[in-house]
Amino acid sequence: MIRIAIIGAGRIGHVHARAVANHPQAELVLVCDPFEKNAKELSAQYGVKYCLDPQEVFSSPDVDAVIIGSPTRFHVDHILAAVKAGKKVMSEKPIALDLASAKRCVDELGDAADHVMMGFNRRFDPSFAEIHHRVADGEVGDLQQLIVVSRDPAAPPAEYVAGSGGIFKDMTIHDFDTVRFFLGDIAEVTAVGTNVDEAIKAQGDFDQVLVTLKSVDGKLATIVNSRSCAFGYDQRLEAFGADGMLSADNLTETAVRKASGNQTEAKSAVMDFFLDRYEDAYRIELGHFIEAAASGEAVSPSVRDGYAALQLAEAAGLSAKEGRTVAIEANKVPAAV
Ligand SMILES: NC(=O)c1ccc[n+]([C@@H]2O[C@H](COP(=O)([O-])OP(=O)(O)OC[C@H]3O[C@@H](n4cnc5c(N)ncnc54)[C@H](O)[C@@H]3O)[C@@H](O)[C@H]2O)c1
Repeated sequence: MIRIAIIGAGRIGHVHARAVANHPQAELVLVCDPFEKNAKELSAQYGVKYCLDPQEVFSSPDVDAVIIGSPTRFHVDHILAAVKAGKKVMSEKPIALDLASAKRCVDELGDAADHVMMGFNRRFDPSFAEIHHRVADGEVGDLQQLIVVSRDPAAPPAEYVAGSGGIFKDMTIHDFDTVRFFLGDIAEVTAVGTNVDEAIKAQGDFDQVLVTLKSVDGKLATIVNSRSCAFGYDQRLEAFGADGMLSADNLTETAVRKASGNQTEAKSAVMDFFLDRYEDAYRIELGHFIEAAASGEAVSPSVRDGYAALQLAEAAGLSAKEGRTVAIEANKVPAAV
């Protein structure tokens, strides 16, 4: 049994708490959030203790592992302190708001970086994971192009956007990791962005972006992101190869379809947001973390992948700002797993 504490009792803290509570080898023992109302509410749901100061988590002898779901600006400090205290760690994405902090994190961790898991949950989504292993098995021949569509149902609150690091670091970061998962290291990034959301525009951020990437091996990927989508959480993937294509469509709550005089093939609405759409992925992700914690094996994705994805996010930001393709300096990428 691995005793787990969760730091940050917000949206993602609730998702992880549910996964921990349902895992047979895990026990949720502590919830930490400086905002007492949030800490109290989540801890009460599972009948566990709460604290307001993360130091109490790090110094507690009753905690074996820590899941970090605090706002992004705290991730590096929380990761380093937890590892120093001898805890197993999984941190939410992105690793940091800037590449220098991410580099400090990976450098200070040293070999321990291979054991700190990054919450790129989409690698564990059953549909995307199946496409990944079937591509690796050569089912569509040489992979040539990858298309990742990721649209949120609605923009997050203004205060979340303000602390998020912007769309490339907060949202596209998942898709940068997906592209690396399929194509390996990336050589070039080209991005454009625009706004349909005036509140996000006022914060100097984009709410719609398109990114194209070229891998070191010359393979291409396109990422399509929007902070809003009228029909729900639009999450699709297409892997196009020399011998065919593997693709995953949106999931709906049921498989029921409707045909009528003015419609054919209409299904029920797509799952609305990450907690439902990726519930299986968070569960499988946690299972991987727990197995690695028990065996001492390296984790994948690790904070090294967190660094590499953030490098692509910074390149995309620069590309969109300056209207040019940005080359990725391969020698700056720490060995990714
Ligand atoms: N993997 C995913 O699918 C996914 C989804 C959502 C969010 N996230 C990531 O999770 C992190 C949190 O996002 P969220 O949507 O849950 O935000 P949120 O605002 O809903 O929750 C953040 C929580 O952290 C608490 N907090 C503030 N300062 C803290 C501190 N110093 N120490 C500990 N807790 C603190 C807040 O009180 C709040 O309860 C972000 O980094 C975000 O990028 C990942």
